[in-house]
Amino acid sequence: MSFDLETFIESCLSSLKSENPARSVSELVTEVISDPEALIAVVGKPERAGITKLYVSESLTIANVVWAPKMTLLPHNHNMWAVIGVYEGREDNIFWRRVKDDTNVRIEAAGAKSLATGDTTVLGKSIIHSVTNPTSIFTGAIHVYDGNFFEKERSEWDPLDLEEKPYDVVKNLGLFEAENTILDLRKADSLTKAPFKNS
Ligand SMILES: [Fe+2]
Repeated sequence: MSFDLETFIESCLSSLKSENPARSVSELVTEVISDPEALIAVVGKPERAGITKLYVSESLTIANVVWAPKMTLLPHNHNMWAVIGVYEGREDNIFWRRVKDDTNVRIEAAGAKSLATGDTTVLGKSIIHSVTNPTSIFTGAIHVYDGNFFEKERSEWDPLDLEEKPYDVVKNLGLFEAENTILDLRKADSLTKAPFKNS
């Protein structure tokens, strides 16, 4: 089976008109990640952390999200439903809820869900989550959002004091690049420290 990106985009857009768009999109994502080899042939092997736009409009975003080994992204919300399907590695999600009547609009941990390769989940519009890749390999996942992921007004929470702030999309994309830089430096460092071979 091959993966055709244009067909997938069209199917997701059609799903938006269905009775339960999130569930319909979830079924499409589940089908796509059931054949990781076909998907990877189109989107590439997860080897660099980042968020690659596959489709973006005001009504829908489809992204290929690659998490660096051991990477954690701070708590954030989306203010729209999302579907996540993991095709390589693992995503551990911590779910958070707002602390009632807290003047600093802080959050507290409320639950967790670990997504393995082949798992799909739907996140509701009000979900707040943080994500960790607990593995030593890159994790690759298809993320679909009910709107423009890059423009939507939303929030993130400081990982130290858990206080709410406006979501900074540029900073968060930069965190993925920072992970790549760290990995490159480690790689270069390990090469310079490679033991000399005795002839
Ligand atoms: Fe998210």
